[in-house]
Amino acid sequence: MRQKLIVGNWKMHGSRVQVRQLIQDIETGTTGLSDKVEIGVSPTFLHLGLASELCDSGRIKLAAQNLYSEPKGAFTGEVAAPMLAEYGVSYVLVGHSERREIFAESDQLVAAKFKAAQESGLIPILCLGESLTQREQGASEEVVVAQLDAVMSTAGIASLQFAVLAYEPIWAIGTGKTASPEQAQRIHQVLREHIAKSDAGIAKSLRIIYGGSVNAANAAELFSQADIDGGLVGGASLEAKEFVSICKSAD
Ligand code: PGA
Repeated sequence: MRQKLIVGNWKMHGSRVQVRQLIQDIETGTTGLSDKVEIGVSPTFLHLGLASELCDSGRIKLAAQNLYSEPKGAFTGEVAAPMLAEYGVSYVLVGHSERREIFAESDQLVAAKFKAAQESGLIPILCLGESLTQREQGASEEVVVAQLDAVMSTAGIASLQFAVLAYEPIWAIGTGKTASPEQAQRIHQVLREHIAKSDAGIAKSLRIIYGGSVNAANAAELFSQADIDGGLVGGASLEAKEFVSICKSAD
């Protein structure tokens, strides 16, 4: 049985006061949840130190939103995987569509970041997803498989043993338009079957979470699908009550 994973992606939001309050409220609200569900939050780099102190019980895992592909060096403005590891970070988002689109991250850079994360013992959450045009052209499955293959050709299939995939259709992110449970399930299944061609064991144990306008009202149905192992939650994760309710629906 794969453990469900729910990660709140706070993006570029939050002050120290808000981070403190959110973590306290999530901690309180999720007390008593079973170990069927693992919970993570992803604050900005600047708030990771504070978050790490507040999450010291280890029940809420820390996820970074990004990293650079080199372990150190003259890369002004970047943050390396060993630095994240030092702050007790467990997960790191890699290839989020906002990074790919706004910051022009290539498949090659995404693959290098994926490897760098694993080399420091972090678990990359590799984000994959098609645009609205690609969906309308019927190319969704092809696009996500190609994005996955681009990383696997560098990192190797065995690397998926220590990774999480997040299917995040771009047209559903921050738009209030969620993929239907059937649409999401179909893509998750395609990804899992694709991996199974290379390694059935890894395909079976790999967690594939869904992201894109997940909220308290739609979470339970999404998480009940056979191949959906949790969620990457943006907007709704900034409200403790809403996020806690999403976490509960995975339990
Ligand atoms: P959203 O964002 O829940 O606000 O759509 C999800 C994400 O970008 O990870």
